[in-house]
Amino acid sequence: MEQEHKGLEQAKSLWIADSQKHSFPAVHEDLTADVIIVGGGITGIATAFEMTERGLDVIIIDADQLLQGTTGHTTAKITSQHDVYYHELIQQIGMPKARLYVEANENAKELIQARVKKYDIDCQLEVKDAYLYTKEESGVKKLKKELDAYKQLGIDREWKTSLPFAADIKAALAMTQQAQFHPLHYLNALIDQLVERGVRIYEQTTAVDVKEGNRPAVITKDGHHLTGRYIISCSHFPFYDGKGLYFTRIHPEQSYVVAAKTTKPLPDGMYLGIDQPAHSLRTAEWHGEEVVLIGGEGHKTGQGGDESAHYEGLERFGEATLGIEEVLYRWSTHDMVTMDQIPYIGRLTKHHQNIFVATGFRKWGMTTSHVAATLIGDLIEGKSNPYESIFTPSRPVSDSFVKDFVKENSNVAANLISGKLKRTDQTIDDLKPGEGGIVSYEHKKCGAFKSEDGNIFLVDTTCTHLGCEVAWNNSDRTWDCPCHGSRFSITGEVVEGPAKKPLKRSYKEQ
Ligand code: FES
Repeated sequence: MEQEHKGLEQAKSLWIADSQKHSFPAVHEDLTADVIIVGGGITGIATAFEMTERGLDVIIIDADQLLQGTTGHTTAKITSQHDVYYHELIQQIGMPKARLYVEANENAKELIQARVKKYDIDCQLEVKDAYLYTKEESGVKKLKKELDAYKQLGIDREWKTSLPFAADIKAALAMTQQAQFHPLHYLNALIDQLVERGVRIYEQTTAVDVKEGNRPAVITKDGHHLTGRYIISCSHFPFYDGKGLYFTRIHPEQSYVVAAKTTKPLPDGMYLGIDQPAHSLRTAEWHGEEVVLIGGEGHKTGQGGDESAHYEGLERFGEATLGIEEVLYRWSTHDMVTMDQIPYIGRLTKHHQNIFVATGFRKWGMTTSHVAATLIGDLIEGKSNPYESIFTPSRPVSDSFVKDFVKENSNVAANLISGKLKRTDQTIDDLKPGEGGIVSYEHKKCGAFKSEDGNIFLVDTTCTHLGCEVAWNNSDRTWDCPCHGSRFSITGEVVEGPAKKPLKRSYKEQ
């Protein structure tokens, strides 16, 4: 295992910088196991753990390295407080199912806590109350409705009209006894357990297709077949669609985090402001010192303009709220959001008995990943699970979500078309070293990045998934697709799917 260097490193997650990395080989042959799991983030690891608890033999593959995707870039709140949510959820799915949704997430929280205790995992787990707060009258109205929903759902709560870190807060609603932790310390301990239990783990292995059947097989980019009794897609976007039309039912959202030493400490708790732009606050431990993670400034992937402005927004908010002594890390993450905001967990489609999916956790994957692990475990064992009908990807969609569906797809279509039509006067000469963007080159439009040493990298900006135009993300130095969240490196390699092929490099690099 290799120890990461620590220190001031912009555009890097504190979790990744402050944890050890495992290293596993790529797949070089055909393999078989009971369960093939695609995706080595929190969902893949938690699900593999659950499968081994049930006596199943497991293979995990990841297209890159374990824990380096969304999981390594989360704010890691272990909570059932999923923003202002429950008032709407009750209208949407009714009281009995809304109760089950809360119960599923509370069970997941307790499962994590019990596991940390059982395996004595040193992961900075702390029990904290989770607060929603507002500085606006319209926000107070929303929070009052949410308070009412908490009462009806039997959620332990507290109502406040002030919070110690901001004098102008009008109301706050706490969900008590929630938790936070260092996600990678927790998951690295689970990975050690998985290795001890004989789970075979592979990195740098991209799944590109599935051969369906009684014994389905994941087919890798190199053509190897990983055959199992069950396949579980735990990648942030399902790597295999199986006519589930997931690309029309999920959209990616990007948000940002800054880890900073602050001049004033954050009062005990985890906080989420509900006024726009929404900001979240929690503490974390860094080299024995307490630092604060300031998160938020979310927007649809590829549609947020200059990423640096979002980091500046977080820093301004941090400065005004607690005072910033030093910024240590900044990072962004991409979360998948379903049409009705409820994750898709279960059979890929109702026709698939042995292929499962877990995706669309919005920003709340710490608990929902564990809901997925136990729910899919029960489905595989043929046990009934009370949460199946809430999370099944085959659930019916209400009229209001059909409207969103249409809006979402026109948004995708708009991105597909507008990007193609947009002209640019920018040329390579206009780019500063370390900058990227759409340029006109030899009378054609293309994506360009100019490195600090003056090298130019040119790519075709047509996303290889379904053809939308990718946009330059200056803070992460990636080409991001606004339609379904694929991300590509400066040389066009796939950083994150659903795209499986790199961007074309139709021009020679200089
Ligand atoms: Fe789907 Fe780009 S078109 S991710």
